[in-house]
Amino acid sequence: MTLKHEAAYINGRWQSTNNTIAVDNPATQEVIGRVPNLDESHIQQATDHAHTAWQHWRELPTTERGDYLMAWYHAIMAHQDELAALMTEEQGKPLAEAKGEIAYGASFVKWFAEEARRANGNTIPAMSRTQQITVIKQPVGVCAAITPWNFPNSMITRKAAAALAAGCTIIVKPASATPFSALALAQLAEDVGIPKGVFNVVTGKASMIAKVVTTDARVRKISFTGSTDVGRQLMQSAATNIQRISLELGGNAPFIVFDDADIDKAVAGAVAAKFRNNGQTCVCVNRFYVHRSVLSSFESKLVAAVKALQVGNGIESGVQLGPLINNEAVQTYQQHIDDALEHGGNLLYGNQAADGNFVQPTVITNVSPKARVCREETFAPLAAIVPFDSETEVLDYANESEYGLAGYFYSESVRRCWRVAMALEVGMVGINEGLISNATAPFGGIKASGLGREGAHDGLEEYLETKYLCFNFAD
Ligand code: SIN
Repeated sequence: MTLKHEAAYINGRWQSTNNTIAVDNPATQEVIGRVPNLDESHIQQATDHAHTAWQHWRELPTTERGDYLMAWYHAIMAHQDELAALMTEEQGKPLAEAKGEIAYGASFVKWFAEEARRANGNTIPAMSRTQQITVIKQPVGVCAAITPWNFPNSMITRKAAAALAAGCTIIVKPASATPFSALALAQLAEDVGIPKGVFNVVTGKASMIAKVVTTDARVRKISFTGSTDVGRQLMQSAATNIQRISLELGGNAPFIVFDDADIDKAVAGAVAAKFRNNGQTCVCVNRFYVHRSVLSSFESKLVAAVKALQVGNGIESGVQLGPLINNEAVQTYQQHIDDALEHGGNLLYGNQAADGNFVQPTVITNVSPKARVCREETFAPLAAIVPFDSETEVLDYANESEYGLAGYFYSESVRRCWRVAMALEVGMVGINEGLISNATAPFGGIKASGLGREGAHDGLEEYLETKYLCFNFAD
C-alpha cells in the first residue's frame, strides 16, 4: 500500500484528472509529483457526498466516532517514518522535525478521539415552575478546511479530528505546495474504515474551491489557516450563507527578555520559538525586545546558539534548518534584513547570499521598532533585536501591532509574570517557555490574527451547535 497518491480523495475514491498541478521539493526544486487540478463540478460532488455521509456519521454514538479516530491515530503513528519522509520531500523541514510534526498531528486525533464523548450539554433552572431547560450539542454539518503548507499534517488533523469527533464531515483543501501529506492521511483514514464521504481531500486552485464551498449553503463551517488577507476575503464570502468561520491568521509574536530573566533559559526559548520550522510558523517570534542591561549577554549567547544551527537538505542527518518553501519566501527574508539594516540595525550574524531556497539564520540587533520586521510577519530565520528600558515601553512596543496571535517573555518575578501576561494583546502567551503548541491547549489569536480556537475542548465546540429545548410539564 502506497501512502503517496497523485489523486484527490472524494467519497472514498481516488480521483485523477488530465489537468494537474506540479509539486516541488523545496530543497532540490525538482518536481516530485503531480496532483489533480480539480474543477468546480468535482468540488460540488465532494460537497454532495460529504452531505450524504453526514446523515449517517452524525447519528453514530460519540464513542463509536471516537473509536474510528483512535484507530486513525494508531495508523498515523504506525506510519510515522513514511509520513515524515513524505513531508520532508514536499515541505523541506528536517526529518526529525517532520517526525515531530507527525506525532504532534496525531496527538490532535487522539485528543479528539477522547474528547468526542464530552460533547456535553447542560440543564438550566427555568424561570417558570412548569418548565425545564435543557441544552444539547449537535454537529454543525458539512465543513470545509483550507490548510497551509508550513504544517502539512497537523493543521489538517487539528481541524478534521475535531470536526469528525463532533459528528461533522469534512472537505480538506491542502496547500498546493504540500498535498501529499494530506492525501496520505486520507489513505490511512480509509485503511481504518472511516466511512466514505466523511473525510475528503480535494486539490486544485484555492480561490475556486473557496468560492464553491462558500456559495453552497450545505457547507456550514469554514476553517482556514493562512494569511490575514485571504482570511478577510473568506470571511466576506462566508457571510453570504452565514457560515461559521474559524480563522488562524498571521502573527507577529514579540519575545521579551526582562532584566530579571534567566538568560540561558531565554536563549534556549528564543532558539525554539524563532527557528522552529525555519521561522515558518505563525507563532514564531518576529521581534525580540531585550532589556538594555542584559542586551550584550543575550546577544552573544544567541549568536553562539544560532551559529551552531546546521542548514541543509532535511533528509541529511544533523540538519536543523531546511530550505524556505520557495523563492518568494527567500525574497521576503532578504527584504526584511535589508530594511532592518537600513533602519540602523547592526548585523551580528548571517545574511549571506541564498543558495536556492537555503538561507542562513540571521541575527540583527539595535533594530528600530519602525522596521518592517517589527510590523510584518517575516516567516523566515531572521532574529531582530530591539533594546528597551522599561516595562511600560516594551508593552507599548509589543501591543502596537495589528496582530495578536502569540507572545513570549522571560522574567523570574512572579508579579511581573502576571502583570505582563495579562497585558499582552495576544491569544497565547509563553511565560519562560518558547514552545507553546499543544493539543490540550486552545490555540488561536485575537485582533487580525483570527477567530476561534483549535485543540482543547474549545476546538470541539467550534464544530458543535447549541440547541436549547424548553420542556413544559404543566398538567
Ligand atoms: C501555525 O503555524 O499555524 C501553527 C503552528 C503550531 O501549531 O504550533
